[in-house]
Amino acid sequence: MNCCKGAPQIVAQREVTPNTLCGRLVQLLHNRLSPNDLIDGHHPRVSDRFDGLIDIERLPRGGPNASRLDRMLQTDRLEYLDRDDIADDVKEGIHRVWDRVGGFLHSHDHLARITLAEVSDATEPRILELGAGPGTLSRRILELSPGARTTVTDIDPVTVAKLAATHLGGHPRATVRIMDATAIDAPDNAYDLAVMCNSLHHLTPTRAAQVFAEGTRVARKLLIIDVIRPPSILLVPHLSMILLLFAPISWPYAHDVFITFLRAYSPSALRALAVHAGCGIELKLRRTGFQITVAARVRG
Ligand SMILES: C[S@@+](CC[C@H](N)C(=O)[O-])C[C@H]1O[C@@H](n2cnc3c(N)ncnc32)[C@H](O)[C@@H]1O
Repeated sequence: MNCCKGAPQIVAQREVTPNTLCGRLVQLLHNRLSPNDLIDGHHPRVSDRFDGLIDIERLPRGGPNASRLDRMLQTDRLEYLDRDDIADDVKEGIHRVWDRVGGFLHSHDHLARITLAEVSDATEPRILELGAGPGTLSRRILELSPGARTTVTDIDPVTVAKLAATHLGGHPRATVRIMDATAIDAPDNAYDLAVMCNSLHHLTPTRAAQVFAEGTRVARKLLIIDVIRPPSILLVPHLSMILLLFAPISWPYAHDVFITFLRAYSPSALRALAVHAGCGIELKLRRTGFQITVAARVRG
């Protein structure tokens, strides 16, 4: 389902070149192994002339022209976090480990700064967080920016009830709400920025495209932060490493991280989702340990 009127178009696409040797090597490998996944942004290939006419629900996580191997390395299996048959304390445990790993890697701080950089022109930015989970990103944003106002949301009522019971619930610059990122209950341009962190891969392509449409409707910019989908040939060793590292700490966490990488959208898939949203969305893609996507509607 297209959410906006008008001809789907890709207005811009760009990625930064990594500045570490390791980053460059991974990028080189990625270019060689996933030739349909534009990475340098300067030479769109024939395969990138995607016209938005594919069956979006069947969009491969590796993009419209993903290799056969890449298509094999994806799954419709849900994470425990998305399953109704999984106990709340298991889900809470996954959020807890997720939070601790983020703290250990200093990624909360890194991601909060990336988010605030997108609204550096506003002294009192209005920020909507979608799929907030434990709310760590919003908490850090409020600490770092004395003027920021956040609306902290998630689709899961239990998660939101727990968020409301934290200090975010009583914070003078925060509002905690249940919200579905695919059908945002807010007027057009209500926010400076909508941010969704580590959550887009949870959604099917149809719903992910709706996030692009809705996020860019209610906010000047939509920032999507998610894990980087590794090149298919590296996925198997990558997934093995995840199991080895995390299964001894927490099986449910290892299970969800494993599925996360199989469901992660590649840059060309993200572009296809934005095209499918059909609102004349401009995309800027870059990588800083995470896949960073900034989407905005080209407003006439
Ligand atoms: C892995 S957690 C990410 C939590 C947090 N953003 C972080 O980075 O730690 C994914 C969250 O997305 C939420 N979610 C899934 N589908 C959603 C939707 N359609 N709208 C809003 N939130 C959604 C889930 O309930 C879950 O809390």
